[in-house]
Amino acid sequence: MIKKIAFVTGGGDCAGINAFIAAATRKGMEKYGTEFVGIRKAFSGATDDRIEEHLVPLGREEILGLENKPSTILESSRFNPFSEENKAKKYPEKLVENLRRIGVDAILATGGNDTIKTAMGLSEMGFPVVAAPKSIDNDVSGTDTMLGFKTAVTFGATAFRSTVESARTHRRISLVEIMGREAGWLALEIGLAGGADLILIPEKPIDLAGFAKKVEEVYRRQGYVNIAVAEGTKFRADDPVLQEVKAAVPVVKALVEEDLGKDAHGNPKLGGIGQILRRIICHQLGLGKIESVRATDLGFTMRGLAPVADDVVLGTRFGFAAMEFLFTGVTGKMTGLQGTKIVPVPFADALIQKTINWPDQELKDAGVYF
Ligand code: F6P
Repeated sequence: MIKKIAFVTGGGDCAGINAFIAAATRKGMEKYGTEFVGIRKAFSGATDDRIEEHLVPLGREEILGLENKPSTILESSRFNPFSEENKAKKYPEKLVENLRRIGVDAILATGGNDTIKTAMGLSEMGFPVVAAPKSIDNDVSGTDTMLGFKTAVTFGATAFRSTVESARTHRRISLVEIMGREAGWLALEIGLAGGADLILIPEKPIDLAGFAKKVEEVYRRQGYVNIAVAEGTKFRADDPVLQEVKAAVPVVKALVEEDLGKDAHGNPKLGGIGQILRRIICHQLGLGKIESVRATDLGFTMRGLAPVADDVVLGTRFGFAAMEFLFTGVTGKMTGLQGTKIVPVPFADALIQKTINWPDQELKDAGVYF
């Protein structure tokens, strides 16, 4: 019998998470008489010896208007109790003990691939858990879309459009760096909606000579160029143009060789490709001044946003569905939007990273360079 449920919100924050909390809490209280609590800082708070200090009571008052609030009211972390190191320190056991100590019978987790993996670990220990997918990268499988993506695209496209107008006015080459580690959905859709001439995505590695030539072509024809670049866009370390520019421009060598480290799940930390490509374009096109090519990093502007209506609706539907799952004995599953329906998705299916699978011709038509 599930009497008390706890929320954890892991990974990068985004829009729509609070709508999930609000809907699940409302439905749970009204239909099942469930008690709710939030655990601050996701699995870092949940495994803390002083878990009580991380608890946020959730009732009728707390969820009033919550669906429209940005980010997550429960804060977040990327702490991974199931890393080899933390398994050896018995963090998974500590997690379950803590949850039992505070009287929690089930977990509702919002997260991307890493949080879903942690939810899977918890579920395999026999603890009831349902997850809802969120990621501005849109890279979780088993669902057509996820919390945060629509809001990020909407805001990102507006921001991108502004750089397009400015580049046209000043006859400049403009690069806009957009989050997206392994999947380029954000750069693709922001670029498409925002009016990009060229789009670079992690799924399609680039050759730098060809890319610079393409930029030059658009520049000569149009007088300005707008490029959307996903932060995870790849080029070869031994690309001859890179070697040449590294030797000629010390800051490129420093930026390329800088080690930004990894997060708790072993994902490399990224950021800065716009600044690298900016200098490569300048060098290859023989432009006198670095100011001729401008780089804007949308970075975290897409994370702490208030949700657009689509994300409020999705968060609300996921919240209602998660409660139905738990109270009909469906646990160890993710809520997935497939077509018009919300369905339970096995965690293992969700964890296959969803990269861009549009046909090459469609990508070329959209301006993707490869
Ligand atoms: O959640 C995915 C993501 O948005 C990636 O695109 C990005 O590399 C990462 O988050 C950065 O997150 P943080 O710096 O908050 O760990």
